[in-house]
This record gives sequence, C-alpha cells and structure tokens, in this order.
Amino acid sequence: MKNIDITSHVRGESVYVDDIPVRTGTLYGAVFDSPMPHGVLRDPDVSDAGQMAGVIRVVTAKDIPGENQIGIVVDDEPLFAEKVVHYVGQPIALVLAESESRAMAAARKIRVDIDPLPVIIDPREASKKGALIGKPRTFSLGNIDQAWETCDHVFEGVAESGGQEHLYIETQGSYAYRTENGGIRIFSSNQSPTVVQKTVARVLDVPMHKVEVDVRRLGGGFGGKESQGTVWAVMAALGAYITKRAVKLVLHRLDDLRMTGKRHPYSSDFKIGLTEDLEIVAYEVSFYQNAGAFTDLSPAVLERTLFHATGSYFVPNVRATAAGCRTNLPPNTAMRGFGGPQGMFVMEAAIAKAAEALGVDASTIQKKNLLREGDAFPYGQKTERCQAVNCWTEVEERCDIDALREEVATFNADNRLFKKGIAFMPVCFGISFTKIHMNQAGALVHIYQDGSVGVSTGATEMGQGVNTKMAQVAAQVLSVSPDRIKIETTNTTRVANTSPTAASASADMNGKAVEKAGLALSGRLKRFAAKELGHPESGASAWIEIRNEQVYDRGVKTDLAWNDLVMGAYLARVDLTEHAYYATPGIHFDTDTEKGCPFAYHVYGTAVTVATVDCLRGTYEIDAVHVVHDFGKSMNPLIDRGQAEGGILQGIGWMTMEELRYSEEGRLLSNTLSTYKIPDISSTPREMNIHFLETAGSPLAILKSKAIGEPPLMYGIGAYFAIRNAIRAARQDKALPLSAPITPERVLLSLYDTPQRATGSE
Ligand code: MTE
Ligand code: HPA
Ligand code: MOS
Repeated sequence: MKNIDITSHVRGESVYVDDIPVRTGTLYGAVFDSPMPHGVLRDPDVSDAGQMAGVIRVVTAKDIPGENQIGIVVDDEPLFAEKVVHYVGQPIALVLAESESRAMAAARKIRVDIDPLPVIIDPREASKKGALIGKPRTFSLGNIDQAWETCDHVFEGVAESGGQEHLYIETQGSYAYRTENGGIRIFSSNQSPTVVQKTVARVLDVPMHKVEVDVRRLGGGFGGKESQGTVWAVMAALGAYITKRAVKLVLHRLDDLRMTGKRHPYSSDFKIGLTEDLEIVAYEVSFYQNAGAFTDLSPAVLERTLFHATGSYFVPNVRATAAGCRTNLPPNTAMRGFGGPQGMFVMEAAIAKAAEALGVDASTIQKKNLLREGDAFPYGQKTERCQAVNCWTEVEERCDIDALREEVATFNADNRLFKKGIAFMPVCFGISFTKIHMNQAGALVHIYQDGSVGVSTGATEMGQGVNTKMAQVAAQVLSVSPDRIKIETTNTTRVANTSPTAASASADMNGKAVEKAGLALSGRLKRFAAKELGHPESGASAWIEIRNEQVYDRGVKTDLAWNDLVMGAYLARVDLTEHAYYATPGIHFDTDTEKGCPFAYHVYGTAVTVATVDCLRGTYEIDAVHVVHDFGKSMNPLIDRGQAEGGILQGIGWMTMEELRYSEEGRLLSNTLSTYKIPDISSTPREMNIHFLETAGSPLAILKSKAIGEPPLMYGIGAYFAIRNAIRAARQDKALPLSAPITPERVLLSLYDTPQRATGSE
C-alpha cells in the first residue's frame, strides 16, 4: 500500500505548523538566546525591545505563572535562563510582536550582562571535574578481570564519534491559542504530545486537562522533537496565555541549528581480548557521553549505549561503563538510534584495531563472534529467533563476497591514486523503550454510520509512515478497504498519556492498540450479524466472518455487506466506538542489578559496504551497500525499504561527512548548511541492495512486521570502516585514529604524513 500522505505531499497540500491558517490578531515570537556559553546573568534589559513598534510583550522567566522548568527526566532545565546561562543558544526571552520581522528586530535590541564562568565542552574534562549527569552505570557479564589472563591478544584504544544534527526539513515550531475557560490549544511539530501537555500545565500552573495538544504531522523529527520540540510549544502556549492572543513560534533554520541539541558525541576507551583463533573473550569499554548543559534524555540515551555496547556479538566477559558528562553545549538529545550507534561504533573500532594489529580481515573476527540463538547479552536477556548469522551468510552470498574481494584487490593493485575498501556491519538492535513504563499505547476507533472509520492513536506521523501502517492494521482487522479509514491527528484529548513516538516501537505499540480496538468492534458487529442472520444463540458469532466488506455465515457469503451491517448495528444501538490500550508484555529491567529482559525483540541485519577513496583529493564515494535485513513479515515493503534507505544514508552522513564543530567557547561553528554537510544525491551510494530476509517476525511486532525506524542507521557505520580499509590499502604502515566522521579532510590527513601543498614548483 502506498503512503496515505503521498498525494497531498506531492501536491504541497500536506499541512505543517507553518501552514495552519492563523487567527486574527496572531502574534509572532522570536527568541533571544544566550550569546555566552556560561556565566552569571544580570537582569536582561528588554526596555528598548519592548518599546519597538509592533512589539506587544517581551516574556522572561519572571512572567511564568507556574514553574520555570521543562526537564523531561530530571528537573534541571529552565524554560528561560534566570540566574546563570549554561550554553550559547540558551533561551533568555521571548519577544511577541505583530509580525515576525518586528519580533526578530526587537530580539536583537535585548541587552544582557553576563559575568563569564569557566567553560567545559569536552566530556572527559567534565568527567575529571566531576560534572556528571547522574551516576555512571556499569553493565557486566562473566569475570572480566580474570578473563584477560585467558586472552592470547589484548588491544586497547580510544574511539571518538561526533554529534549529528537532526536536520528535519520542518524546523521546530508551534502555534497556540487560548480556548474558553482558561484552556489552551497547541499545534506542535512534536513527537511527544503528552510531554508538551504536561510541561505546559506545569509552566502555566494549570491542570493537564486545560491543555490540548494536537499534532497533524511533523516534517521530520528523527528524535529532535522527542524532548526538544517541547521548548517552543511551551513558549507559544505561555505567550498565548499571557497576551490572550494566538502565538506562532517557528524557528528559522540558523536559530534552530544554534539553539537545539543534537546526537551525543562520545569519547570512549576500549580494551578487547581475543584467543588465538579470534574468539572475543573479553571486552571492556568506558563511554564518556557529551550530554550538554542539561539532563534532557541523556540518561536514557546512555542506557541504550550500554545495551548495545557489544553490538551483534556474543562476548562472555564484559564490563561496560558509561558516564553522562555535563558540558556547556546545548543539551544533546534523542537521535535515530538513541545511543545505540555510539555504543556499536566503539565495538567495531575495537574489532578493527585487533584485526589490523593481527593482520587479519576484520570480517573474520566479526563473523566468528556473531550472536547465536540463546546467547546472553550483558544485560541478561537472551537472543530469540536470532538472525545474526543468517543475515551475514545471506549477504555474503548475495553480494558474492569472494568475487567482490577479488575485484577490490585487483582494483587496488592496478590503481595508485584510487583505493577501494570493503567492510561488514552487522546490526542487532533492541526494540522497546528502555524505560519499561513507556511501553504503552492507546487507540480510539470510531465506525461511523456510513461504514467509514476514524482512527486516533498516540503515534505521530513524521515521515516514517506510521499513519499508513495504522490504516493498514485497521483495514485488515475490520476487513474493509483502506479507503474507508481515516487517520486523525494525534490529539491529547482523544488518546491520553501517550508515550513519545520513538524507539522505533510506535507502529508496534499503537498498531497493537488499533488491532485490539478493531477486534473488539468486529466482535461486536459479528454478534449483531449472527442475530440478523437468524442465529440468536450465544456463541453463534463464531460462525460469522467479515471478509472484504462482506459478511460470511459458516463460510458462505451472505447478502449482508459492511455498509448495511454497520447501519443495522447503529439502529440496533450497538456501540460503534472502541478505545483500546496496549502495554508490551513480558519486559522488565532491574537497574540495581542491571539485568532483565528489556526488549520485546531484537532486529538483525548485516550490511556490506564498498567505498572508493580518491587518494589525491581525500574524497570518496560509496560504491555499494548490500544489506540483508530481518524485516519479519514486512507489512509495507515500500515504506520499510524507504526507512532502510533513509536510515542508511543518515548513518553514512553521521560517520563520514556531518561534522559538528564548536569553538572552545562552545560556539557552534558549523552553524549553516554550507559548513555542515549532509548527504545529498551525489553522495548517495551508487547501489543500495536491500534484501528482505523473510522471517517469522515476532509476535510482539505488529502483524509480525518488525520495527524499522532506527536499526538501519547503524549500517552506516560500515561506510566508516570501508573508507578506512581503502585508506589502509594505500597506507598500511600508518597508524590511523578511530575517529568519526571520517571527512575528506581527515582522509587526507590519514593518507599523508605532512600536509601537501596545493601548488609547488616541482
Ligand atoms: N523517518 C522519517 N521519514 N522521519 C523521521 O523523523 N524518525 C526516525 C524513524 N524514521 C524519522 C523516520 C526515528 S528517530 C524513529 S524512533 C522512528 O522513525 C519512529 O517511528 P516508528 O516508531 O513509527 O518507527
Ligand atoms: N528510545 C527512544 N526514546 C526514548 C527511549 C528509548 O529507548 N527511552 C526514552 N525515550
Ligand atoms: Mo527516535 S531517536 O527514538 O525519536
């Protein structure tokens, strides 16, 4: 089935926050943010700004009726800075004016006096100074201290991975206005309607029922609107509350880049021990997570790093420690993979280091140590329906790995200025929120008198196709045409207490709720149909089936069609509405022992990436990415393929070209799209072969169709190592750092001992 939004997207008719028709008297917001990374803030002088033409109000911390607090996990983040500023870009004031340009001009007139305090941007320095967010956590398995003695080879090293900008196409934005009796309605580009509702209630000091949050869709979220869409929604709501006028706040791209947090950069120490025959016996890793100035979601991201510290491998002796480090950067946040990619990168770096030192191909070590059925993860859960080896061997076969290796070897022998490299990247990703209580979802399904159906869930559509999947579930369980289904906006008054649309689990959890509601409704309709067809006895509904909008009685098609069935049921006073609730069963985790069964299931796959490096320019191309991925029984191969391709490209971007640079004072230097480079069509792999490994799926996946949103991102790690292997083909003798992204600049520095001059007389 095609994505249900496809036509309106192509016609430009899909509505985003900026497309919502504004009400008369709407005010526009502009945020004034801290120009300094850390310091004591004197009272901001907003008098000049406040007197400018068209300016209605300048809002600061002092205007907040409730709490100046928006922390999602820990209460450490003010909406507006009050006494101290903690990063460049931290909001200090909101200007509300008759037009956006006036608001922006006025914001530029605000003056602040800030007495500088020391600045930390490096996570290791933060750790040394004790600037931690929460306590460091350790996951362990076996006995690591004894294990080293049994190793024939031990290697240590440092691995670094950079941050990543979400670069959703629709920047952060919200529109809010007051409704009667002190209520407030907020339209937000947001993954977390309930978080917005709760935070607005807290900041305005009103009960949650006064706050309605509505999300039609997001022009991309990628995790960047799980916690950080809240800020702007709360500001718009506060502005509307204070001025009694509608308020629109949509960030301009450069403001969004500067003010919002990103994927967490990590700096990590690793130590890996192997036997003579390349079995990994021991792995020790310390992660230093650059969390930024406030807690945000960092502890949850950190946890997911620990859950993925050993990647797709079984290692019997493990100690993985992770510390969230507080720095003077914007609070880093959820981004596709949510700490998983950072953990897996270090494991791959350790294997690469061992392989290079031992003179073997990394894939030999990788393949030897892949997870097998029943293997335990360091957190206690065991693999079930493990597909790691299947995906690996299947992709070897599909890309004809021996021929490919041969081809690359010949190419490298024949070419001095171009070199190719190959890398395998196996992925194993756990599906469920790592906070157990978040694994719940709801749906509200109405069947209208004409047989059409309205579905509301807690999931938000951000391009990942969840609405299409919800329509498919409803159509399938009611056995009606998908044309009959409408997916409503995500609205806190229809489905309450929603978890963020995140963790790749939204289709599963909300889909299960839709399925339950649909089953209840069709059960009710079948009982009614049984009576209509002359079977008043109880239990007769078991004879009834609804198939393609037609009622069947003991396998025989009747004259009763969906429309008449529904209308009849309505006239017979049968309830045609159902709310259903789903909570993922069987998952648990004990943070004292750091053991449990946190994931509903795991998603597996393997990618083989081939890259060509231009050794004169340092540039590279990704020739091909061959993937065998365990989709379970994909309910929408078109959408799932799109998710895989998009995820892979975003992963390649993170690993190879997207370089966030901050100055020593914590100022974002790569603050435009000319200095922060994301993959475009010309950097797309020339070939992307994604093979659907058809497996039984998991009973906890919606219609056995496994979660797809995040796992493919980690195939991008393969691009890093493919490029590295190409560099090594040119320079075997040179020690290379394990530091991502591997930008063309870094490739050149890896290839040459001294920087080459562009011009010369030789
Ligand atoms: N795909 C698109 N087009 N846009 C997005 O913002 N977000 C990703 C992924 N795919 C995203 C996307 C992230 S971070 C997650 S967690 C999942 O979608 C969330 O949706 P799901 O739970 O329905 O998979
Ligand atoms: N993934 C994504 N978002 C989250 C998670 C998670 O595991 N936990 C809390 N928010
Ligand atoms: Mo995705 S990072 O879980 O929003």
